[in-house]
Amino acid sequence: MKGLKIVSTGSCHPQNAVSNDKLSQTVDTSDEWISTRTGIRQRYFCESEKNVDLASNAAKQALERSGISADEIGACVVATFTPDNATPSVACMVQKRLGLPNDALCFDMNAACSGFIYALNVAHGILMQGGSKYALVIGSEVISRVLDFNDRSTCVLFGDGAGAAVVTLSENSVYEFTCGANGDDAILCCPTSGGLQMDGREVFKFAVGIIPVCIDKLLDKSQLTLEDIDYVACHQANERIISHVVKKMKAPSEKFFVNLQKYGNTSAASIPLALDEMASGGMLKEGMKIICVGFGAGLTWGGIMLEW
Ligand code: UT7
Repeated sequence: MKGLKIVSTGSCHPQNAVSNDKLSQTVDTSDEWISTRTGIRQRYFCESEKNVDLASNAAKQALERSGISADEIGACVVATFTPDNATPSVACMVQKRLGLPNDALCFDMNAACSGFIYALNVAHGILMQGGSKYALVIGSEVISRVLDFNDRSTCVLFGDGAGAAVVTLSENSVYEFTCGANGDDAILCCPTSGGLQMDGREVFKFAVGIIPVCIDKLLDKSQLTLEDIDYVACHQANERIISHVVKKMKAPSEKFFVNLQKYGNTSAASIPLALDEMASGGMLKEGMKIICVGFGAGLTWGGIMLEW
């Protein structure tokens, strides 16, 4: 089977950076509590920007860096649980803004914080059908719109942002995917009317259990070991979750990328934001093997192994 290659990445965050101290002016919390329990130092909240603004800017940057033109994009898949409208989808509005072809397959999908991983695999399937060479995969969220600012244990954790990737098929490169779901609206739920609710401790336990399972599945399928993997980019929810996983897997912590201190938890946007920062910072070189793991509401989880 052909693998999936990330040709280029892009990202976008809203203008308004909200530090823990700034948030403490309106929420009964402190920088000390947030940073020691989560590692988060700041997040961005949209003021006037919409989901489509973030998604289009991230996608435009990825497209410019790819060197291919908008007409070569055969599909645009946006992972989000916070679209601007029930319809039209964010993806259709990105299609319009970027001038993607009218016959491109454009749609949103919701697998919460696992969304970008699911969307990469969906794009892989679309490209495998033939017909087009490239797809745009975007994770974009405006979570500030659905937060309950009276619930301090949850509202301090999240932020807004978007990340995008232009992807194509690649011969002879490693590609593995794993995913799962376990319907549960008790420990993590966001009604369509807003008011994200989460039992943080339960989600924590779920996360530290499922990430190693995903990584081990990918390693097993590929017959590789963690030593063969250059970087792991987990969904950026809490630094303590990542540290637990590092310890459990007896892995070097440098292998696990962390940038949640700047963004908080941006759900489907967190993994593409991480990949874009890694790529822009020169960490990722051709041929490197990376694993990305998402987990979140649904409950859902998903892991992907790619060659850069
Ligand atoms: O993409 C979805 C992924 N979701 C997650 O990754 C969330 C995973 N869970 C977590 O990250 C952690 O469970 C939290 C960071 C949410 C909470 O950490 P915790 O160590 O489990 O704290 P807790 O909820 O048990 O609360 C401990 C204390 C409580 O006070 P008492 O009852 O001990 O006096 C809370 O009232 O901390 C208090 N507290 C706060 N204090 C200041 C809760 N939230 C805050 C706050 N600021 N924002």
